[in-house]
Amino acid sequence: MQTQPETVKKPIIFSGIQPSGTLTLGNYIGALRNFKLLEDEYDCVYCVVDLHTLTVRQDAAQLRRRCLELAALYLAVGLDPQKSLIFCQSHVSAHAELAWILNCYTYMGELSRMTQFKDKSAKHADNINAGLFTYPVLMAADILLYQADLVPVGVDQKQHVEITRDIAQRFNGIYGDVFTIPDVYIGKVGSKVMSLQEPTRKMSKSDPEETYIALLDKPEDIRRKIKRAVTDSDAEIRFDPENKPGVSNLLSIIAALTGESTAAVTANLSGKGYGELKSTATECVIETLSPIQAEYKRIMNDKAYLQSVLDQCAHEASRRANRTLDKVKRKVGCAPHGKA
Ligand code: TYM
Repeated sequence: MQTQPETVKKPIIFSGIQPSGTLTLGNYIGALRNFKLLEDEYDCVYCVVDLHTLTVRQDAAQLRRRCLELAALYLAVGLDPQKSLIFCQSHVSAHAELAWILNCYTYMGELSRMTQFKDKSAKHADNINAGLFTYPVLMAADILLYQADLVPVGVDQKQHVEITRDIAQRFNGIYGDVFTIPDVYIGKVGSKVMSLQEPTRKMSKSDPEETYIALLDKPEDIRRKIKRAVTDSDAEIRFDPENKPGVSNLLSIIAALTGESTAAVTANLSGKGYGELKSTATECVIETLSPIQAEYKRIMNDKAYLQSVLDQCAHEASRRANRTLDKVKRKVGCAPHGKA
């Protein structure tokens, strides 16, 4: 667990992922991979955001298991709990407390403009609950509690980071500099990995299985899914997301996983057929995911270790979060504690 001397303060990162299903290659390329890439330069706080997941009805036993699995994946991609805090949101009560206070500084109008709210309420029309509506406020609380400077996310979460900035600026405008105003960090390639079957839509864990690659997919499943990925009929390998979304998606996946630019990847494959494009993409994905899967298995076989990481990190996260929460409570006029 992270114990930094106060004198060498690095800028702070906060990010989170919902334990709402199997993680996809989109989650990996858009978020998790960047968590690891940024780990050495920043003081990182990475959260399993289980409270957010409750906005959609969950099976309790399955959600409990998924929280541990997601934490194991954080560790399996190489995040080091000596450097980064890795914990569950529900273990740090300051998140829910600050969210309540910030609800009182957030307008219905701005929440109604959130595209995720519109999408999710269309998808879950039988359960448009208040949590779904105020979801971005809990996300703002997550970020602002740790005075984060930077929030690495995929493009779909950009609007939520923007509303976080608005809420923080509004609050600071009334009470002085309480919160750091966070910037969004979006990777150059792969910030929106697309569905393999409908490449104009985001790859999403809530869509049918053949549309996404799960981080724990077996090599034969990865081969099959990429082989069946939708391309187009003009047989030219060119990076052109608007006119050639399927081909461009595969090129972006290769670029993100190899660290090359899309231009370089396209040049290497130019003149070749879609079969070659797909086999290159398949090999890159399998090569990336195999060591993560092996490490994941190892960590899941050592639940005592996993639980001890989560417990220790939650303890330190609470300490840091409560510093901000206490300040906020004082500013807004919550009753002071007695000096017992
Ligand atoms: P979630 O759990 O839906 O997704 C986790 C992260 O994965 C990114 N992502 C993608 N990136 C590229 N291509 C895709 N197809 C793709 N699908 C998902 C998401 O952008 C995200 O970065 N609200 C957040 C969780 C959250 C959070 C936070 C994030 C809660 N509090 C505070 C940052 C800071 C969410 O639902 O992500």
